[in-house]
Amino acid sequence: MAPSTFITLAELAVQRATWDAEGARVALVPTMGALHLGHLSLVRLARQMADRVVVSIFVNPTQFGPNEDFAKYPRTLVADLELLASLQVEAVFLPNAATMYPDGFQTFVHNQGMALTLDGQSRPGHFQGVLTVVMKLLNLVRPDVAIFGKKDYQQWRLIEKMVADLCLSYRIAAGETLREVDGLAMSSRNRFLGDQDRTHATAIYRGLTAAKAAYKSGERDAQKLTLACRKILEISQAVKIDYVELRSAATLAPLSGQVTEPCVLLVAAKLGTTRLIDNMEME
Ligand code: PAJ
Repeated sequence: MAPSTFITLAELAVQRATWDAEGARVALVPTMGALHLGHLSLVRLARQMADRVVVSIFVNPTQFGPNEDFAKYPRTLVADLELLASLQVEAVFLPNAATMYPDGFQTFVHNQGMALTLDGQSRPGHFQGVLTVVMKLLNLVRPDVAIFGKKDYQQWRLIEKMVADLCLSYRIAAGETLREVDGLAMSSRNRFLGDQDRTHATAIYRGLTAAKAAYKSGERDAQKLTLACRKILEISQAVKIDYVELRSAATLAPLSGQVTEPCVLLVAAKLGTTRLIDNMEME
């Protein structure tokens, strides 16, 4: 059955009240649409964790910088709704920008720590936009659990931190990164890669895998682990590295010397005009 679609806050509120009355557990999967199997894996996780699944699709203008790809971000609503129908999602929330940011909107969620590094450094204001829209989506849907992908590792950790710091009662769960057969992390932006860049993009996964292999064989030196990945990325002239960083998995704090705590290697790189991010937990 096709999911119910809600555009206004009032429609969503009526549905939510019904679920309240039924005592149903609700899971939310926030997305910007252009759905792929990575998104759908989160929906499947949601299905296991709750009685009702809500997927939101909203290309959030406040998380895009002035020179970023907001206008050309892929929008494939008809196909998205078909995919969600095939997974028996109960509801799709499709707010528009005027609903989420009416005239006079002036309150934002700002993280002053983890949001200033990595992608936050390369994309100033990005995480303020993400946290603000996620806060709003959480408060509108009031899910028992909201599900995010480890693909956007820093985003996931920031959302966990927001929930802890601001005493929100929503549970946050994370799904593993889904990859293409050659290892490239699935992303709505992969469709922008030309054939050659698409081939070169696999260096990101190969680099992360090389670092993980070194970690597994006992390497613990932060610089050497980072270098194991960087060396592979640097082979390809097409890959313009933004950052390759080994960080604490829990706090994303920089690490140096011998690492003793769980850590994650994070990469951002541009291929042509397409910026890709990926990461791998070292464990
Ligand atoms: P979007 O890029 O559409 O991603 C929606 C969710 O899907 C995020 O939690 C993201 O981490 C997850 N995801 C993306 N690629 C994945 C993959 N290959 N495997 C598993 N999960 C994957 O992230 C956003 O939208 C926005 O910032 C949002 C949170 C919706 C706020 O606007």
